[in-house]
Amino acid sequence: MKLRITVLPGDGIGPEVTSEAVRVLHSVADICGYHFEFNERPIGGSAVVAAGDPLPNDTLKSCLDSDAVLLGAVGGPAFDRLEPSLRPEAGLLRLRQALGCFANLRPAAANQALADCSPLRPEVRNGADVLIVRELLGGLYFGQPRAINETEAFNTMRYSIAEVERIAHVAFREARNRHKKVTSVDKANVLETSRLWRAVVARVAEQYRDVTLEHAYVDSFAMQLITTPSRYDVVLTENLFGDILSDEAAVISGSLGLLASASIGGKVGLYEPIHGSAPDLAGQNLANPIGAITSAAMLLRHSANLTAEANGIDEAVGKVIAEGYRTADLLHDPVSRKRAHTTKQVGARVAETVSELLNQRMAYHAV
Ligand code: IPM
Ligand code: MN
Repeated sequence: MKLRITVLPGDGIGPEVTSEAVRVLHSVADICGYHFEFNERPIGGSAVVAAGDPLPNDTLKSCLDSDAVLLGAVGGPAFDRLEPSLRPEAGLLRLRQALGCFANLRPAAANQALADCSPLRPEVRNGADVLIVRELLGGLYFGQPRAINETEAFNTMRYSIAEVERIAHVAFREARNRHKKVTSVDKANVLETSRLWRAVVARVAEQYRDVTLEHAYVDSFAMQLITTPSRYDVVLTENLFGDILSDEAAVISGSLGLLASASIGGKVGLYEPIHGSAPDLAGQNLANPIGAITSAAMLLRHSANLTAEANGIDEAVGKVIAEGYRTADLLHDPVSRKRAHTTKQVGARVAETVSELLNQRMAYHAV
């Protein structure tokens, strides 16, 4: 098994969390006898500094030539004043578009061991396990025309039937492997794009009779996601709503630092934690690497079909959390924060645990 992975550490805490994800992937490769080749390239603000472009040609070429891309985070206050096309975020958006990954999967679940990390009461949070399926290449992020001048600014929200269909199929297929329920979130009482969205999703649903479909308005859904999260399974929504709702869903798990994402459906899959570059934590070995590590698990699952290995990583993360490993974002009082685990401690422990788990499994299968 050979896998070529382009690693894009990016800005802020990106380099620290991705190096822990790479460490975990190395330990999977070592135990299983796979050859994972890692090629590191700049993206975002650090690429502007190094090459004058948030997505240098060489970075894009490396991504297109690989089996999968693992990204840390982009952005930071140092780059806020750059012109729009040079902003770190513009590099990421161009990358998503060039790879063609229109389907962004963002799972968020309540882990019992982290009950004290979420502001939600245990009875509200228990059993919650949602998968947000966010459309990633349409809507306000990419719609033309868009402009700003001295007196006004505008963006365009635009969706074609084909764009809605293809993301709806992803959501229904995911639901088939889960609890067979899709909640499609829109603003069909106001927006034309949402009326089209709702009609197309309803039509696609006819091909998935075993899956239940419900529609919800984004405003009331935003409230219900947090008051009754266990009601939901797959949440299907457009680009901007999905961006907002996935940060909200992080409250279910307990920290933004825990959430992973997979952007699939195009030439090459792109895997990144949903959190940002957290400039205030950068360079201090404080950031939570679990979102990046579980993104690496999604990479193995979606871009390499290594299901057992991906499950091994997720299981190892669960064990390490159960053992009490906590980065500062998971600790809420200043006293316990003093005893927080570092980025590297958590990464090293997950890498060690995944080796043990996969070793045991291989020994079992060899009998
Ligand atoms: C995310 C981020 C990005 C987005 C930014 C960095 C462009 O917030 O992945 O959720 O808005 O999609
Ligand atoms: Mn976001």
